[in-house]
Amino acid sequence: MKHLILANWKMSPSSIKEARELFEYTKTAVGKMRAVSVVIAPPAVYIATLASAYKGNKVAFSAQSIDTYEDVIHTGALSPKQYKSVGAEYCLIGHSESGDTLDDLRVKTFLAIKYGLTPIVFVGESVRDVAGHYLTTIREQILITLKELSAGQINDIVFCYEPVWAVGQSEALDSYGVHQMALYIRKVLVEEYGASVARKMRILYGGSVKIGNISEILEIEDIDGVAVGRASTDKDVFVKLLRVANKA
Ligand code: PGA
Repeated sequence: MKHLILANWKMSPSSIKEARELFEYTKTAVGKMRAVSVVIAPPAVYIATLASAYKGNKVAFSAQSIDTYEDVIHTGALSPKQYKSVGAEYCLIGHSESGDTLDDLRVKTFLAIKYGLTPIVFVGESVRDVAGHYLTTIREQILITLKELSAGQINDIVFCYEPVWAVGQSEALDSYGVHQMALYIRKVLVEEYGASVARKMRILYGGSVKIGNISEILEIEDIDGVAVGRASTDKDVFVKLLRVANKA
């Protein structure tokens, strides 16, 4: 299976012109790569422009967030149906910067699937305690996300393990720690939904992924890809990172 590389642009870049340049550069590089598939989550205001001009199939687009409303009377809200209509195929849910509550994981995942977006759901602890209570937090996040879904719907969900304390830092969680958490998440999924469902679900790691650590993270069994924040918004850095990922 290809490595899934999520480029979470957050609020970058600051103009549509720069967004086009970053996308063009990324798209051209990815076009020649066989071992990676890229999902770009640009700011909402750029998705329609970028997606409508793209005819390839190596890059997919993601909403950075969706709202919990299905009706049309909430000022400023954007629905999964709207994102889908402008070319998004994925949406991020539960990112620590998005303000999503535990219950939002359930509602948003349900709505994303209802309207045909593949959810990439972020789970992860804010702090680690020596007693290991953070594992219970992650288990709760997984279970509430999947609460309203059938086994058939669960298959498509992507979980991204992203410890909040590792976002925007100089170092990621070490590969031993990433492996432990991937195994833990897979174990929770196996216990709740059985091995055949759990095996098909993709698990990513996020939090300070960069050129220097992406290979060792992608080599971990049970890790199907990575979420990249800062390193995805500099075109030269991101393309170098993709080249490394393509060889991992
Ligand atoms: P970072 O961000 O790669 O800059 O740590 C990751 C994220 O927020 O998903």
